[in-house]
Amino acid sequence: MSQPPPAGPPGGPLAGPLVGPLVVMGVSGSGKSTVGAALAQRLRVPFADADDFHPPENIAKMTAGHALDDQDRYPWLESVGAWLAAHPDGGVMSCSALKRSYRDQLRHHAAGLRFLLLDGSREVIAKRQASRPGHFMPPALLTSQFATLEPLEPDEDGVVIDVDQSVDAIVQGYVDTVTRSEES
Ligand SMILES: Nc1ncnc2c1ncn2[C@@H]1O[C@H](COP(=O)(O)OP(=O)(O)O)[C@@H](O)[C@H]1O
Ligand SMILES: [Mg+2]
Repeated sequence: MSQPPPAGPPGGPLAGPLVGPLVVMGVSGSGKSTVGAALAQRLRVPFADADDFHPPENIAKMTAGHALDDQDRYPWLESVGAWLAAHPDGGVMSCSALKRSYRDQLRHHAAGLRFLLLDGSREVIAKRQASRPGHFMPPALLTSQFATLEPLEPDEDGVVIDVDQSVDAIVQGYVDTVTRSEES
């Protein structure tokens, strides 16, 4: 028997479940920017990084070394949500989206929004951060990232993938999981 054609490019239009806006989420250092860009390229859809959507006030605050609070995050998430809403035919956004309430705010803009949670142990992510040139992540920041992370809940449309594998394997894992879930 012949094999069915692979879902998504190369070779034709995207399969249904791979279409639509997607948020690649996780703690800092989990690989959101790297995996998000690779996945967008694989799916041949636009990519954006939520880090680039902060209003000037937030950038000033972060530059001064202060953490953002949820009030600061509100206008930022509104901008991220607007981008997602503007990409109903597909788009990948890297955004930490650690709290359920942040994801609810994004879903408010784009109903049916899907999430890919990049899941990794503190050890794996700390090691990765340490090998990142020009970046030092204080252990306390990683601790607070893990403390803040609220995993995807059963009613949220999402896929969880272990980050302790190559970027290509993570991308393939996502495509396979979504394609399989649509077939069953
Ligand atoms: N699957 C992976 N395997 C090895 N290194 C990775 C992987 N994903 C990301 N990295 C590296 O880990 C670091 C953090 O990745 P990045 O995409 O910047 O994370 P985030 O955007 O979540 O903060 C970068 O140096 C990146 O090149
Ligand atoms: Mg990033």
